[in-house]
Amino acid sequence: MRIAVVGGTGLIGSKVVRILDANGHDAVPLSPSTGVDLLSGQGLLEGLKGADVVVNLTNSPTFDEASPAFFQTTMDNLLEAAEDAGVGHAVILSIVGAELVPDLVYYRAKVLQEDILKAGPVPYSIVRATQFFEFIDAAMSWTSDETTVRLPATLVQPMSAQDVAQAVADVSMGAPLRGTRDIAGPEVFTLDELGRIALAAKGDERTVVVDSSAGLFAAASGEALIAKEGAVIAPTTFRDWLAG
Ligand SMILES: NC(=O)c1ccc[n+]([C@@H]2O[C@H](COP(=O)([O-])OP(=O)(O)OC[C@H]3O[C@@H](n4cnc5c(N)ncnc54)[C@H](OP(=O)(O)O)[C@@H]3O)[C@@H](O)[C@H]2O)c1
Repeated sequence: MRIAVVGGTGLIGSKVVRILDANGHDAVPLSPSTGVDLLSGQGLLEGLKGADVVVNLTNSPTFDEASPAFFQTTMDNLLEAAEDAGVGHAVILSIVGAELVPDLVYYRAKVLQEDILKAGPVPYSIVRATQFFEFIDAAMSWTSDETTVRLPATLVQPMSAQDVAQAVADVSMGAPLRGTRDIAGPEVFTLDELGRIALAAKGDERTVVVDSSAGLFAAASGEALIAKEGAVIAPTTFRDWLAG
């Protein structure tokens, strides 16, 4: 199949392109650097020509109040062009429990992205993943100084970007789910615990302090971000990933 991967140069997108190609498909990465802009629609119809499937792995440049408009405009453009090009399956990557964290505008934006896809004209699949291991450094950088990293004790069940990409590629190569598949990592941590393990692995001697108001993940409580019943559990553990 010809599978267009919008955002195919990003963290997840580039891995998805490699997996699809390795499985004998014709994966076409589309992004601003290849002349396709999902915000303006420039180059999109041309890029989707002949595609059987489109996978949307773009991300908003910010996680703030601008993110809902990004996902609204990019999804509207994507679905219009996909319908015009006769694409038979549209896939997006969202976040486990996004609807359970309404105080986080970026998560509200991801729910909006899902709702636009579900209401649209193209048969669809939604993959919902938990937080990526690759994301922990960014999460720590928001609330750290030279001696201390402040993190909330939010429960997370993170996973590797490679396992996320495999799940997205598997769904993209199949028939539209017309529904959602959840994927999650094999272990549950509190975010502060995850931060301590990550710092220790790098010999970083900063101290992790629990702060229930620190960073974006302070908005998530209880088991909001943990795998729900029926979720597929990915194989790679955090320590395996750190060692890899
Ligand atoms: N972080 C997490 O823990 C997590 C968890 C679950 C789901 N997700 C979701 O995973 C998805 C992919 O995330 P990621 O970390 O792989 O993102 P990323 O590395 O930031 O990559 C974003 C991709 O989108 C492209 N892009 C940005 N603006 C675009 C535009 N206007 N038109 C076309 N392409 C555009 C970028 O192209 P250039 O390279 O040319 O700039 C890049 O290829 C996101 O939707 C995110 O919500 C994230």
